[in-house]
Amino acid sequence: MAKIRTAMIGTGFMGKVHTEQVRRLGNVEVVAAASSTQEVARSFADSVGIAHATGDWTTLVNDPGIDAVHILTPNALHAPMSIAFAQAGKAVLCEKPLAMSSAEAQQMLDAAEAAGVVHATNHNLRFYPVVQYVRQMVASGELGEVLAVQGTYSQDWLLYDTDYNWRIEAEANGKLRAMGDIGSHWMDQIQHVTGLKITSVCGELTTFHKTRKKPKGSVETFTGKTLSPSDYTEIPITTDDFGTVMLHLGDRARGAFTVSQISAGNKNSFRFEVYGTKSGVSWNQERPDELWIGHRNSPNQILLKDASLMGASGQYADLPGGHSEGYDDSHKQLFKRFYARVANKSLPVEHPTFADGLHGMKCLEAVLASHEARAWVDVK
Ligand SMILES: NC(=O)c1ccc[n+]([C@@H]2O[C@H](COP(=O)([O-])OP(=O)(O)OC[C@H]3O[C@@H](n4cnc5c(N)ncnc54)[C@H](O)[C@@H]3O)[C@@H](O)[C@H]2O)c1
Repeated sequence: MAKIRTAMIGTGFMGKVHTEQVRRLGNVEVVAAASSTQEVARSFADSVGIAHATGDWTTLVNDPGIDAVHILTPNALHAPMSIAFAQAGKAVLCEKPLAMSSAEAQQMLDAAEAAGVVHATNHNLRFYPVVQYVRQMVASGELGEVLAVQGTYSQDWLLYDTDYNWRIEAEANGKLRAMGDIGSHWMDQIQHVTGLKITSVCGELTTFHKTRKKPKGSVETFTGKTLSPSDYTEIPITTDDFGTVMLHLGDRARGAFTVSQISAGNKNSFRFEVYGTKSGVSWNQERPDELWIGHRNSPNQILLKDASLMGASGQYADLPGGHSEGYDDSHKQLFKRFYARVANKSLPVEHPTFADGLHGMKCLEAVLASHEARAWVDVK
């Protein structure tokens, strides 16, 4: 059977992860890579064995040899790229946060729907087997009615004022940084596992470093340790290092979470807790195969991922119990469901779409509006 031909638009962290994980499916061939320059694109393509490389993504838009694209660039490019490829009839899988605003995300959804192409937002963190098991527990009533959710997404890679990345600049990333980058994952995940929508938020955002030292050379080769004043420009920073959000979920549930890119020692500490009228659960991305299950009147438990013991959610695990499945695998599970629909559009939608990305943008905009107004704001 002919393989689905796909292209990677963006060749950084996500370019590598997506290329490696999509190849595990077996029915998809990565035929092209686009980056900001020809040199970067060629170097990436050579390192992972992709034949065609280009420094101009627009040359791929009407390429009849491409069926689908992965949009893996800074957020400001998600909308123009996704819309152009969708209008050219390509299936589009775009990274999160989906866009710079809900208005842009709406345009992306409208363009993809009008063109009749399959579209996805890459909320890969939904696809850890144990996360799917939590969703199943909530849906089956095992936790009772959800009352409270708590959690954090904490990192430390922007702790120093010498730490720099395109995400720091509002023009490339949007007005929200930590909240947009990782708060978008937290809010999507809590809605995914509980099946409830965030309806209202009260948020506060903090920028500890009012200025940062932007390297004059390439950001990729930047090391803060060897900086001298002639190596950097001091620039003002408006995007958030840290954020706190209280939220309403569905009719009755309440919750709160923090996001941070300045919490020393936290590399990728994504945790959520869900407490219902019967039991509670706690999950930590850094120990993804484990789930803490809390009870009021009996001993607490630690569940270990084992597909054969996890009911329908076992379908999200491809390895037997005792064989860990992690971050890479979560992408593969999402891609598997996306490409199944690229091959056969009539299959049920089992991956997040642009509509989910649009809702995510509305949640982020509500957090920003709440911060600016110092008040609770409803999600539109
Ligand atoms: N789902 C996840 O777990 C996850 C993790 C990290 C990043 N992301 C998202 O993925 C996206 C990319 O993040 P990253 O960490 O890979 O960033 P990165 O900086 O490592 O890579 C960005 C890439 O975009 C390319 N690029 C920039 N301008 C371009 C242009 N005009 N044409 C073509 N390519 C261009 C750059 O050359 C680079 O290869 C962001 O939206 C980010 O939020 C998602």
